[in-house]
Amino acid sequence: MKKIDSFSEYKNEYKKSLDNPELFWAEKASTFQWRSKWNKVLNWDFESPIIEWFIGGKLNITENCLDRHLKSNGDKVAILWEPNDPNDSSVKITYSELHKKVCEFANVLLNHGAKKGDRICLYMPMIPELTIATLACARIGAIHSVVFAGFSAKSLADRINDSSCNILITTDGSYRGNKQICLKEIADQALVFCKTIESCIVFKRTGEEISMKSDRDFWWHDEVLKVSDFLTATEMDSEDPLFILYTSGSTGKPKGVQHNCGGYMVYAEYSFRNVFQYNENDIYWCTADIGWITGHTYIVYGPLLSGSTSVMFEGVPTFPDPGRFWEICEKYRVNIFYTAPTAIRALQAYGTSYPKKYNLSSLKTLGSVGEPINEEAWHWYNKNIGNENCSIVDTWWQTETGGILISPLSHITKTKPTYATLPLPGIQPCLVDENGDEISGNGVEGNLCIKFPWPSMIRTIYGDHKRCKNVYFSIYPGKYFTGDGCKRDNDGFYRITGRVDDVINVSGHRMGTAEVENGINEHPLVIESAVVGYPHKIKGQGIYAYIILEKNSTSVDELRMQILETVVKEIGSIAKPDKIQFVTGLPKTRSGKIMRRILRKIAEGETSNLGDTSTLLDPLVIDQIIKNST
Ligand code: WTA
Repeated sequence: MKKIDSFSEYKNEYKKSLDNPELFWAEKASTFQWRSKWNKVLNWDFESPIIEWFIGGKLNITENCLDRHLKSNGDKVAILWEPNDPNDSSVKITYSELHKKVCEFANVLLNHGAKKGDRICLYMPMIPELTIATLACARIGAIHSVVFAGFSAKSLADRINDSSCNILITTDGSYRGNKQICLKEIADQALVFCKTIESCIVFKRTGEEISMKSDRDFWWHDEVLKVSDFLTATEMDSEDPLFILYTSGSTGKPKGVQHNCGGYMVYAEYSFRNVFQYNENDIYWCTADIGWITGHTYIVYGPLLSGSTSVMFEGVPTFPDPGRFWEICEKYRVNIFYTAPTAIRALQAYGTSYPKKYNLSSLKTLGSVGEPINEEAWHWYNKNIGNENCSIVDTWWQTETGGILISPLSHITKTKPTYATLPLPGIQPCLVDENGDEISGNGVEGNLCIKFPWPSMIRTIYGDHKRCKNVYFSIYPGKYFTGDGCKRDNDGFYRITGRVDDVINVSGHRMGTAEVENGINEHPLVIESAVVGYPHKIKGQGIYAYIILEKNSTSVDELRMQILETVVKEIGSIAKPDKIQFVTGLPKTRSGKIMRRILRKIAEGETSNLGDTSTLLDPLVIDQIIKNST
């Protein structure tokens, strides 16, 4: 696929994509290997919603990620794996080796009865086998559902059950910094509640003692010995599901966002090449985890579709010391580096001595994703990591969008700190006011919607199409609503200001306040809770929980501990509140709705200017809360 190489070409391409979107995307799609070509490019209606791309086209995404590179690039390295412990050996996997390993594991899945359309859950650390297992599912047309390995047994079980997965792939344990986590034990706890799992395949990573249930649990290394390393890929329809990935919303349980094969493939490669301006011999490194969408699109699919060499890292940025990211950049001569603002801020706190120790001159492009990047972090990244020579691409997108929608193109689009800048060709953003009317012109602010489909957009919420319609397509009929607030400045550049719903973004992880509340409420002494986000120096947003307790004699410190443990058990440690305030009442309207707006202000440290409180049932509650706020 040819990439855009100047700003005037970007403008041309953008115009082409508006004038004739179908022709525009058909041209991009034609650079892939299709078993048979589509007969219609697009069918859509944001009312139902129906979104179909490359209709009737047949393909398998793994043939595009692997097979098509074999002839000319079989010996090229696909994955450079860096283990958690820098003293352990790294691993190099070429495209032809990866092809074999994927085929081999796909055969294992077939041996365990997996079929096209089955759901397979992956609960694994950042090891090459996670990429292999992901692609093996895609190879046989099974729908992968990767669950971040930091989630609790309860969260894992909920996700497995929501999509009735029949196979779970996991490891004995995982390493993260100086911690060793027994994943299999967590998986075992989850599987007690999962009736649909027939096989659990376990890769040996740590070698720790684990229990293996006969007839259900199988070692990866035993299973691969029984199969061949070749397998013709299953033919998929362009609109067959490729994967489900759970993400949090304002209300209810996490939603299984579904992406389909053809459109996702086209947009993953298109956005990867253009945003990062990927060149044939570049070394690319995205520090995300495959358990999130960034890992799906920009560790697994985008880079492999482009035939690139990527670094994959098992560990954390501060182990064995806060220079680890920069050490890895130097070791592999990384050209394109993609991380989250929370990591930048965390490393910034250790000063410049760590990055100074390493030669970072190979870097050309620095990416940011997952949350708004504050100005200070932007400048620190630009100066101390990029040596003011790199282009900083602040990429805005979501699990639902499948790929980056608004971002500078590296070294092409003028950058502005904190601005995601301009939409990629094919993307039609608009800002709307409270009445749902589109706000025209520049120098304006509103809620961010997208008014025309793009190939990698969400197709449905697995098992609940109505919820998909309600959450994304009903609030502003005829448009996809992102849930984000946004400014458009006088140059027409976009700046994302953060979520306008009850979703908070903690260290780049998306969390529903209701989800955290449900976790807290599981504690037997909790009567009610209300959770809001507040500005946090490193995490972007922290979690502030206001909790009403039953009368009891347990000490407050003990209760705090217990509640944190409950949340870890219910969701995982990423959902642990940073601050807990025990209160006797919550500000509610006469109809019983909690006024989070007020709680948010108090959590931000605001004690006056709380806005209109006249609809409150008991305004005195607020004084109480302010008096005891932390
Ligand atoms: C936020 C992550 C500002 C936003 C890819 C969005 C951002 C949510 C940016 C999606 C950015 C992501 N600037 N905010 N560059 N990128 N966000 O689904 O609020 O985990 O709605 O996808 O993260 O989070 P998700």
